[in-house]
Amino acid sequence: MKKYKFSTEAIHAGQIPDPTTGAIMTPVYLTSTYVQQELGKNKGYEYGRVSNPTRTALEKNIAALENGKEGMAFASGMAAIDAVFHLLPAGSHIIISNNTYGGTYRIAKMILENYGLQFDFIDTSNIALVIKSRKENTKMVYVETPTNPTMQLTDLKAIADFAKRHKIISVVDNTFASPYLQRPLDLGIDISLHSATKYLNGHSDMLGGMVVTNNITYSEKLRFLQKSLGGIMGAFDAWLCLRGTKTLTVRMKQHCQNAEIIAEWLTKQKKIKKVNYPGLKKHPQHEMVKKQMSHAGAMISFDLGSLINAKKFLKNVELCSLAESLGGVETLISHPATMTHASIPKDERIKIGVTDGLVRLSVGIEDVEDIIADLQFALKKV
Ligand SMILES: Cc1ncc(COP(=O)(O)O)c(C=O)c1O
Repeated sequence: MKKYKFSTEAIHAGQIPDPTTGAIMTPVYLTSTYVQQELGKNKGYEYGRVSNPTRTALEKNIAALENGKEGMAFASGMAAIDAVFHLLPAGSHIIISNNTYGGTYRIAKMILENYGLQFDFIDTSNIALVIKSRKENTKMVYVETPTNPTMQLTDLKAIADFAKRHKIISVVDNTFASPYLQRPLDLGIDISLHSATKYLNGHSDMLGGMVVTNNITYSEKLRFLQKSLGGIMGAFDAWLCLRGTKTLTVRMKQHCQNAEIIAEWLTKQKKIKKVNYPGLKKHPQHEMVKKQMSHAGAMISFDLGSLINAKKFLKNVELCSLAESLGGVETLISHPATMTHASIPKDERIKIGVTDGLVRLSVGIEDVEDIIADLQFALKKV
């Protein structure tokens, strides 16, 4: 297909009218297997774990949005992350952001280290430290930017250059930004991955993971891993995600506009000790937003000073739903220390700024005045 601009690609990439009926929407191919014409002859599909036409459409769609050649859809963000780490042989050392999603920390420390991978969780926003952390056996540098939940940025171009210099794989978890705001492959990163559960789907009604790359060696291995590990995205989830990406642009614009207003409002509240949002001028990496993102996004975290304050605040929000996850049209609020980051030991957690008073907000696309009124009401109770 001809290459169009972002919003056009979001609506059309990977999708053609159904050849048998002309249906404009890609059908949900609910089938586990495909009838073959004769031995060794098929229509490109053999078995559902290997491939499915609805999944193929989504894989092509997200690959186009990330400016990548190959996309692979998984059952969840964690299944995607697991597959990416499976690209490495036992004995490999990985440099990884110390502020990643708690589940990434959990799979690394509690599962993959038992199989011979070595993880060094460091502050990847400090490029000198990244360079210093490299060992003989370093095979991957894995960053999350902006980080979950303290909203630190890592310089993607510097990470890509470092990785190329030393022939190691560079990976970015692009979940918080979405390809609308940030396209890591354009900056030289090898692999961009997502929890598709979040902004790509945008409606909190499915789970999924995506991996996109321009490197055919990696994509071939990842397809082999899909087939072998089996953590693939189901057809109905792929269809829901495809429907979601059609509105990614309009959703992201509204998410970002609301977040900017809310972040400014939060900075003016005396009961709030600190607001983490890269769109604020006083955010230490505000300039980097301009360098590698088209906007700072719609994730904000702020510190209420103590667990008691956070508890009171979260008990009194009504419109903002207390729930894990992010990136849906509805505003979600969470407490990283006891929810998304509970698997990180307390001293490690405090070191990376995930304090007991920290609250994370995934700003939705409701009327911003209603979100602010809800936050204001809850804050009065603190
Ligand atoms: C940044 C990030 N990466 C990965 C994941 C894991 O994705 P999933 O929940 O789809 O497995 C999450 C989940 O919250 C996340 O926030």
